[in-house]
Amino acid sequence: MKIGIIGAGAVGATAAYAIALDGLVREIVLIDRDAALAAAHAEDISHAMPFGSATVIRAGGYDALAGAGLVILAAGAAQKPGESRLDLLARNAEVFRAILGEALAAAPEALLIVASNPVDVMTGIACRLTGLPPGRVIGSGTILDTARFRDLLARHLGVSARSVHGYVLGEHGDSEVLAWSSARVGSLTLEAAAAQLGRPLQDSHRAAIDEAVRRAAYRIIEGKGATWFGIGAGLARLVAAVVQDDRTVQSVSVMTPEIAGVQEVPLSLPRVVGAQGVLADLVPALSPPETRALAASARILKDQLEAVPLD
Ligand code: LAC
Repeated sequence: MKIGIIGAGAVGATAAYAIALDGLVREIVLIDRDAALAAAHAEDISHAMPFGSATVIRAGGYDALAGAGLVILAAGAAQKPGESRLDLLARNAEVFRAILGEALAAAPEALLIVASNPVDVMTGIACRLTGLPPGRVIGSGTILDTARFRDLLARHLGVSARSVHGYVLGEHGDSEVLAWSSARVGSLTLEAAAAQLGRPLQDSHRAAIDEAVRRAAYRIIEGKGATWFGIGAGLARLVAAVVQDDRTVQSVSVMTPEIAGVQEVPLSLPRVVGAQGVLADLVPALSPPETRALAASARILKDQLEAVPLD
């Protein structure tokens, strides 16, 4: 498969590097309004290919997207220290208005993966501006938050993150919901696993994990100005799920007809991801507080989406 990445900033370039190293796609076209930046990243990444991948990566214009089966939208402003993801909305909505028409004109069959923040609302904007079916416009959503949640739980319990099955739902942002009640270790509930592992998981531990997940990006941005490795690897994982049709369950963001009493809202839920995009939603049973928190998160996203003029 040929794929395109629009936006060669830290996230787009890191995603290009991670995807290229995976070697699962034939060609990557890297596009940026700063053509010199895209060309430099493409050439630099191409020098990594002889060490283990046959992926061809090049910079180009929108016409170079012809035949692409998937396009990652990573263009736009990134959070600065003290900014929330939602603060980026007006600026990045303008960017999407400028790029989506050209992208789909060149690659009308492409599946879209949205990475630009605020990613859930940007996914809704991309869906509305393109008119594509919701399952073909996938936001990275809370895949990174879910990874952070699983990693921290795994470290606390002393097991591999690959055996921790839990999801973060709703907004990839301040109102996100860690679905503790449906999380499992192997086939055990967290309480049973913690008891059998002799690793108490008290409210104080849960609160510390919640804070660490929810504030991770802010912490990293304070230290180095932006995040890019986690999201870059997450985008590579989504590309692999599409290219391999692996039908893994990932907490991606999609326009959702109804959730927790809120209609037509872009937010992250566990969904089956394969070659055709999102194949099905797998909504976990939630505790009453989690359901209330998800409804609140959905209302925030719905209000943000409705506040963006898309005429
Ligand atoms: C983060 C950015 C990708 O959470 O929103 O690191």
